[in-house]
Amino acid sequence: MARATALVAVAAAAVAAAVATPAAGATLQEATDAGVAFLAGRCADQQPLLAALAEAVDTGDAAAARAAYVASRPPYEEIEVLATNAALGDLDARIDARPYAFDGGEDDPAWAGFHRVERDLYRDANLSAAAASTAALITAVDELCVALTNNTAGVTPAESLDGQVALAFEVAAKKVSSEEETWSDASLLIFKHNYRGIWGLFSPFKEAGLPAAAAAAADDAYEALVAAYAAVDPAGVAAEAVPARPYSAVPVVERAALMNATYVFATAVRAAREALLAEASPAPTPAAAASSRVAGAAAAVVRVEDAYADETAAGVAAFAAQCAEQQRVLVPLRAALAAGDMPAARAAYAAGRGPYEQIETLAAAFEEEDTAIDARPDAFEFGELDAGWGGIHAVERSLYRDDDAAAAVAALDGVDAAVASLCAKLENDSSLFSAATTWAGMLALSLEVPAKKISSEEETWSDLSLMIFRENAKGIRALYAPFAPRLSAPVRDAINGSLDAVQALWGTLDAGNDWATGVDFRGYANTTIAERGSIHTAFMTLHRALQRGAAEVVPAASPAPSPVASPAASPAVSPAASPVAADDGGTCFPAGATVELEGGATVAMAALSVGDRVRTAAGGYSPVYLFSHADPSAVSAFVQLTTASGHTLRATASHYVPVCGRLVAAGAVAVGTRLTLAGGRTSAVTAVTTVVDTGLYNPHTLDGEALLVDGVATSTYTTSVAPRVAAALLGPLRAAYAVAGWSTGALSGGSPLWRLLPHGSAVVGGGDL
Ligand SMILES: *[C@@H]1O[C@H](CO)[C@@H](O)[C@H](O)[C@H]1NC(C)=O
Ligand SMILES: *[C@@H]1O[C@H](CO)[C@@H](O)[C@H](O)[C@H]1NC(C)=O
Ligand SMILES: *[C@@H]1O[C@H](CO)[C@@H](O)[C@H](O)[C@H]1NC(C)=O
Ligand SMILES: *[C@@H]1O[C@H](CO)[C@@H](O)[C@H](O)[C@H]1NC(C)=O
Ligand SMILES: *[C@@H]1O[C@H](CO)[C@@H](O)[C@H](O)[C@H]1NC(C)=O
Ligand SMILES: *[C@@H]1O[C@H](CO)[C@@H](O)[C@H](O)[C@H]1NC(C)=O
Repeated sequence: MARATALVAVAAAAVAAAVATPAAGATLQEATDAGVAFLAGRCADQQPLLAALAEAVDTGDAAAARAAYVASRPPYEEIEVLATNAALGDLDARIDARPYAFDGGEDDPAWAGFHRVERDLYRDANLSAAAASTAALITAVDELCVALTNNTAGVTPAESLDGQVALAFEVAAKKVSSEEETWSDASLLIFKHNYRGIWGLFSPFKEAGLPAAAAAAADDAYEALVAAYAAVDPAGVAAEAVPARPYSAVPVVERAALMNATYVFATAVRAAREALLAEASPAPTPAAAASSRVAGAAAAVVRVEDAYADETAAGVAAFAAQCAEQQRVLVPLRAALAAGDMPAARAAYAAGRGPYEQIETLAAAFEEEDTAIDARPDAFEFGELDAGWGGIHAVERSLYRDDDAAAAVAALDGVDAAVASLCAKLENDSSLFSAATTWAGMLALSLEVPAKKISSEEETWSDLSLMIFRENAKGIRALYAPFAPRLSAPVRDAINGSLDAVQALWGTLDAGNDWATGVDFRGYANTTIAERGSIHTAFMTLHRALQRGAAEVVPAASPAPSPVASPAASPAVSPAASPVAADDGGTCFPAGATVELEGGATVAMAALSVGDRVRTAAGGYSPVYLFSHADPSAVSAFVQLTTASGHTLRATASHYVPVCGRLVAAGAVAVGTRLTLAGGRTSAVTAVTTVVDTGLYNPHTLDGEALLVDGVATSTYTTSVAPRVAAALLGPLRAAYAVAGWSTGALSGGSPLWRLLPHGSAVVGGGDL
């Protein structure tokens, strides 16, 4: 402990040297500005490191370029603590986004930043590509430094504290269990600088009225975190220290201890935030967030016509059989747990994990069961501390990480119940499925594997990711097979060939483990970067082939949405740009919901066009630049919220509304909650009901302000996509519209995109979203 304490002293001194600590009794804004000044200093540190990277890339020396890349990583990982800040616009997306935040994954030209450079240098060893990606990164960082200097961005105390809490929980719930830097294996460096950034932004608040007990708790938690980090990386948290180990060399038990200390730290920062902002807006309790998430589950959309009903039904029937298989294979797991035989339980887990990973292809049609079976802690605001988190990954954690049979049994009970509900839907509720959902599911999963799963340890604690990818491919083949005879020969050959190629690849990656029946998997931690690169290529090839299939099938299956009111002004809903109409049903307003145009006219959603200037809650008007949904014929369930003032808002359950500076899913709003009306007035909800209505529309305004719909302030974000990711994602589109008046159908009509993304919480902080 003496050593750890010494490290804390070093770390605290290093941070203190950079933070101009405000005098005791500083205001919250002064504390915020001091923290932002610390980050502005880090941004100034970032610029020469990137210049050195560009220079190393130019010399053509790949090894030197990689070394310069790693050396350039630290400052932004400290600044990232403000990534959620609305005032920084799309900068985080341009600097630090991963491919899964983009519709086309790596194919998307808008994908930019550090991870693109990482890919170019480490996986592809392509220096000319790295030169271009580095140049784009430098431009974005230069803009960032301007925004941070003297807090030009206008970061508020609540935004600063929310950013700290969010990043601390993100490291605990997500980053520790995913390969934050897949190709460079430098995740420890990332974690360390995330911690330093949070602490640098937090420290000045200790002088701004933070109660002594909360300050002491935060100090203790940071000290313990620094010690936990030092146990994993003897080089410690000092800014200039180079991590002594690659993250892939850190075993599960050490990751668990680091995760644990991170949760304790995150909880202390959250408590400090609440103490500092008590008057402003209490943070939601984990339990509240969890229960309202269930209420936010989307309703199914009924489609009238489906020319591929038989093909769809055949795929769903195959999954119903897999679901029955899933129930059977969980039985030996329960028996092994009952007998207290943990090695047998782990073997039974591995053998029983496959069926759901096939069925997952259709997860969009049963979001509630998918969450109960397969959610990860990072889908919940407070990670593993969230009472609502459970499912197969909780079983995995209990078996492999915590060696806790009782916890495994409890989690298994939840899985069994959700699987039973799922089997009933697959067997008896054909209204949930259509050719459109089938193809959207196949497209989403075939992109999710290369864009996301491959660079996260899909099964961190069990190391079973190779099994997961294999089963995902089998699930895609099972859904696709019935459609094969109805595709053109070239497209069928392309899809068959790419599915065969995935299977052949597994013959080399996991030789000796039969594709159909093998259960003795090679550990994913043991795969090389080159092998992961080949997985990426195989699944992207499959994804592109499936896109060609979707273009042949889906327009006939469910007529593309007819253009809204004035077609000429509405490129956003071009059917060609968006052949797949997915039934996510979770994101919109009905056709009859109204907005106010500049000039005072009131129009229905169905008559609104791209370019129209609509009234926002802030009192101004902003042009619509995108419809992420515009489907006049869908029939869906909406939550109807009636206020004491006589306003009636209808929105899908997972659509956010601003409440007291936070975002709350419509399905989580209770009687008594005060909604915001025009001019910032509020009115209490007097009734919450469910109604069925026609049309699904979600317009986005250029300035991202909350829109007034039927007189009530509503966010354009939904629980389908975490607001931070959604904001990152929309940034480039917004810029394109602002610059060129150009709009896109990339997100319209139900792009499979939303399935890739972590789901947003039912309640999130940051009223500006
Ligand atoms: C390297 O990247 C450039 C630019 O993206 C591309 O044109 C070129 O084909 C790539 N080279 C190789 C060998 O893949
Ligand atoms: C930041 O504030 C300092 C002190 O007020 C001032 O001297 C400096 O010019 C400001 N810099 C920018 C870029 O606004
Ligand atoms: C996590 O921390 C708690 C309390 O600090 C402790 O009881 C628990 O054993 C720790 N778990 C792990 C896996 O380190
Ligand atoms: C489907 O419905 C039938 C008839 O009601 C019922 O017997 C069967 O158990 C249901 N299937 C599932 C998996 O619940
Ligand atoms: C293509 O794949 C489907 C589904 O696996 C299969 O039924 C069909 O026989 C294959 N066709 C060819 C020509 O390989
Ligand atoms: C890891 O790979 C090595 C050879 O590269 C092999 O000997 C070892 O068995 C593998 N371990 C696991 C867990 O797959």
